[in-house]
Amino acid sequence: MQGGRAALSKSVRRYMNDSSRVGAMTSHFGVLVALRGMLLVTFMSTSIANPLNSTGSIDQRVAKLLAQMTLAEKIGQMSQANASDGYAPDYLGDGLRAGRIGSVLNVVDVVVVNELQRIAVEESRLGIPLMVGRDVIHGFKTVMPIPLGQAATWNPDIVRDAARIAALEAATTGVNWTFAPMIDISRDPRWGRIAESPGEDPYLASRLGAAMVEGFQGDDIAERGTIAACAKHFAGYGAAESGRDYATTNIPENELRNVYLQPFKAVVDAGVMTLMTSFSDLNGVPATGNEFLLREVLREEWRFGGFVVSDYDSVRQLAIHGLTGNDKDSAFEAVMAGVDMEMAGDAYIKHLAELVEEGRISIDTIDSAVASILRAKIRLGLFENPYTDPAELPPLGSEIALQTAKKAALQSAVLLKNDQEVLPLSTDQLNSLAVVGPLADAPYEQLGTWVFDGDRETSITGIEGIRDLVGDEVDVNYVRAMDTSRSRASKSFDEAVEAARGSDAVVLFLGEESILSGEAHSRADINLPGEQAELVRRVREAGKPVVAVIMAGRPLTLTNIIDEVDAILFAWHPGTMGGPAIADLLFGVESPSGKLPVTFPRMVGQIPIYYNQKNTGKPPSPDKIVHIDDIDTHAPQTSFGMTAFHLDAGYTPLFPFGHGLTYAEFGYANIRTSADEVTVGDVLIVSADLTNHGDIAADEVVQLYVRDLVGNVTRPVRELKGFRRVRLEPGQTINVDFELHTDDLSFYGRNMRLTTEPGEFHAWIGGSSETKLRTEFCIIACN
Ligand code: NOJ
Repeated sequence: MQGGRAALSKSVRRYMNDSSRVGAMTSHFGVLVALRGMLLVTFMSTSIANPLNSTGSIDQRVAKLLAQMTLAEKIGQMSQANASDGYAPDYLGDGLRAGRIGSVLNVVDVVVVNELQRIAVEESRLGIPLMVGRDVIHGFKTVMPIPLGQAATWNPDIVRDAARIAALEAATTGVNWTFAPMIDISRDPRWGRIAESPGEDPYLASRLGAAMVEGFQGDDIAERGTIAACAKHFAGYGAAESGRDYATTNIPENELRNVYLQPFKAVVDAGVMTLMTSFSDLNGVPATGNEFLLREVLREEWRFGGFVVSDYDSVRQLAIHGLTGNDKDSAFEAVMAGVDMEMAGDAYIKHLAELVEEGRISIDTIDSAVASILRAKIRLGLFENPYTDPAELPPLGSEIALQTAKKAALQSAVLLKNDQEVLPLSTDQLNSLAVVGPLADAPYEQLGTWVFDGDRETSITGIEGIRDLVGDEVDVNYVRAMDTSRSRASKSFDEAVEAARGSDAVVLFLGEESILSGEAHSRADINLPGEQAELVRRVREAGKPVVAVIMAGRPLTLTNIIDEVDAILFAWHPGTMGGPAIADLLFGVESPSGKLPVTFPRMVGQIPIYYNQKNTGKPPSPDKIVHIDDIDTHAPQTSFGMTAFHLDAGYTPLFPFGHGLTYAEFGYANIRTSADEVTVGDVLIVSADLTNHGDIAADEVVQLYVRDLVGNVTRPVRELKGFRRVRLEPGQTINVDFELHTDDLSFYGRNMRLTTEPGEFHAWIGGSSETKLRTEFCIIACN
């Protein structure tokens, strides 16, 4: 503890010495901090053991507290205040003392957070500590790949580790609650928030969402360095019409349950402590006032025992949606629907007491909301340990954090194409390399969206990674060519072409700056922005092998450049260690092994396009489509194919879900099942042999897909039901098997009950959703 005290005292001193703060320290809080510097140190030496709050079971402790609380104090627990570092204790102090604030968000200065906790714990009547929330979405100081990139790893272990590191780093500031994982299924790459999502598939999202929760919350949520997770946005947000953020969603209940809710159920089962409602309108009832979602499904069916927070001011937005006429009715609808805590707005604080007094909301309803919040605080150990000593936790940007960030970036990059095996590059064969593009040396842009606390100083760029790797062996000719990814100016393109001409190969760093994705950053055109396509065409003129490394927050329509480049490595926004990871992949230190968690369309008009679609009554096939350029105007209409396709885009995507190339050469064979039939309630094993025919050791993500041929509601043409990342040495063959329980094949049918239907199934194993290696089996009813 001694080291801890010393460290905190240093951090207090640092705070006091920081000239920007000292300059402004005429306020009450400035003086307060100065006077309390030593006192804060003393907090750290003892944990608080409030006799009223620390004995008995969690439920007993909650009941004891509730019995002492006034209505105003209860409503306080249900209210979260936005704060910011600096003077938060000044302007929140009175509210904290009066017990009118249960949680704060957006404070990350440990001294300020400790002071806010101190006021809550020592100066409020009941001493209830605060939940301190922050958007720690894909890392804190050390930034991991964006969540969509992490999903491309198809590796729950690395996703769990990345969340663990993020929790440890965020916890040094006193943050004890993150607003992650975001597990909104999205089939629309125009939507800016697809960057934060795990992509289009409910099974992949479920596995990775649960892993993130485990990473943030650890084995024991009361331990230092663990933080409460918050699954968001419940529910359906990813189905925003035309991918416009915040837009309306209309999702039939059947699809809602089979697709959008599945990951939420998985994280509830994994023990997620909190859920956040979506901003969006779901089938006419905005999620924040949606009783069906928050009570019927979440509490009654799933038995969720944590608490629900609204999204930022989304309670008051119920009136803007037109569900209510004023803030008071919005508070009523939200509480009745099951929103336990209001984020940032003041509808609860202003109106709940009156609603209770009028008898519109019962005290039992309030008590149950408050109880769920208090339970979380007790489970987090906040009553015993409200204060944070950063010295008790690993330092920010530790070696292990950087290694984890690099591993995640390595496994997330997807090799989309590699003609004539232009990759990997070899230092033996290259004397010079042109590195061109707006994202080759853009430390901040490669971090991606939602990096409030990300450290751009330690972010290592592509050009740095390449230079580091090749050393003196290869001359690197770097031309940025465009100021930003959106630049329209092409004045530096000649210089880029010159560099390409004078080099043996070209690596183009293209894509989107970080602000082009994320909340409220949707795009209608998802081509490479600005003049990037023109840059590609110009560089191509040099006649050298061209490799594109694309960093972006979403799938892009690459149709207009795909034939102009020999290889594409899609790196998403790869985070702090993007540069070294990309360099290793370009030069074959490691083979690419990422697989797409979302389908890449050829053009925007195909959206939504996703692998687990329905068959339709007129499924397309190569012989049953016609291209707009080949239409025979005089032929009968049937010559059009009369199937479900676009005349100008066909029906296939540019790259399918699950796609990703490698430097190895993987071959799949011998798919089989442990039996031809399985009885409802039993397990079937589906397996195949995988061989590495190449000459490099590499990871492969083996994928299992299933189709239920007949259902009382139609079933998708394929559904992911298992995956495993394996590593194979050259020449090695392994058998990969998947356990398939008949419950894994259940779905919500017409009666909205989860059922496994007997019948015929197809199963495929392979390296993408288009694998052709198939077997069959049947499910038979018991008896
Ligand atoms: C709004 C976003 O929708 C949500 O994801 C985020 O957690 C909150 N703001 C808090 O910043």
